[in-house]
Amino acid sequence: MNPKIFAPLQLGGVTLPNRLVISPMCQYSAADGCMTDWHMMHLGHLAISGAGLMVIEATGVTREGRITHGCTGLYSEENEAAMARVVQACRRLSHNPIGIQLAHAGRKASVHYPWHGGKPLGAGESPWRTVAPSPIPFGEGWHVPGELTVAEIRKLIESFVASALRAKRIGFDAVELHSAHGYLLHQFLSPLSNRRGDSYGKNRMQFPLEVAQAVRDVWPKERALGARISGSDWMEGGLGPDDAVAYAKELKRIGYDYVCVSSGALSPLARMKVEPNYQVGFASQVKQNVPIAVRAVGMIADPEQAEDIVASGKADMVAMARAFLDNPRWVWHAAERFGVKLDYPPQYARSRSDAWPGANLARKKIGV
Ligand SMILES: Cc1cc2nc3c(=O)[nH]c(=O)nc-3n(C[C@H](O)[C@H](O)[C@H](O)COP(=O)(O)O)c2cc1C
Repeated sequence: MNPKIFAPLQLGGVTLPNRLVISPMCQYSAADGCMTDWHMMHLGHLAISGAGLMVIEATGVTREGRITHGCTGLYSEENEAAMARVVQACRRLSHNPIGIQLAHAGRKASVHYPWHGGKPLGAGESPWRTVAPSPIPFGEGWHVPGELTVAEIRKLIESFVASALRAKRIGFDAVELHSAHGYLLHQFLSPLSNRRGDSYGKNRMQFPLEVAQAVRDVWPKERALGARISGSDWMEGGLGPDDAVAYAKELKRIGYDYVCVSSGALSPLARMKVEPNYQVGFASQVKQNVPIAVRAVGMIADPEQAEDIVASGKADMVAMARAFLDNPRWVWHAAERFGVKLDYPPQYARSRSDAWPGANLARKKIGV
């Protein structure tokens, strides 16, 4: 068998050795935006996972663009140095490409860590002023965001560019703009959160595309550039798959190499149907209509499931988040399942089931 998930994929000037991607995952473990030892351990381990691309967590382009006090940022020299330390270590451990997701949380910023409830920070908890296209809070009891002025919008575009330049200096292979999950770029795109009367409201793609273009202008063509987009707001009057297609077409026109099609999280009132492959249909719709590489994500955890998505042409690659947290050896195990030989780090080669008698006993013993 020649599984498609283990075929290389070209994104811009970057070749992914396979189509299995570590989805960006916030760790809420940074100090004023700076990566810590947690990131060294977390990303170091995932760097040797064998995944074709590892995308590092949503990283704030400004201090106020972080979701929580513990989110990573790329808004200062210190942030850049701390991230460079971790990325350089990952580079010494693996040759596989590494990307970073650049983000601004907009009205969803200034909240507690998820394991502390994820609710807005109160007075005395160092909250900050949140911003959005329109002064509509994310939900009941949330901060009312300040409506961004045009001057503030221009500054934010500069912040995205400045962070992209920091990412370039650190040596990332890919930058991914976060324009899903109800964060700032998505807030501009959706009619439910963007009620502006100016051109940024009449053409809701204007701000995201200005950011996309400005980042394209500074991001090297020989690396990869993509965006995470939303396939649906899962709400009456919200964005749907046709909007994702229209946005992806514009990103392609600007020169983006790929999109990852996710959905939801614009409003707590959305009613999502979360089940295996629940977003794959959105990815497939984009794939059918736009000549851009497409990544599917969401409740993909099984190697055959991943293979079916790619082999059937619904998407060019798949991203997984929780599956990798649960099992950083997912790629090794999938390769074994399909009879594909992967280069293990020599220190771990004896864990391969065919390499040492009884090596896979532990896996069998705990019933996985
Ligand atoms: C711990 C955790 C942190 C996450 N942080 C981000 C993030 O920084 N950026 C993002 O776009 N999605 C983030 N997500 C969403 C995942 O990337 C992914 O889209 C989602 O979990 C669905 O994939 P899964 O079913 O494979 O987990 C996060 C998910 C988890 C579990």
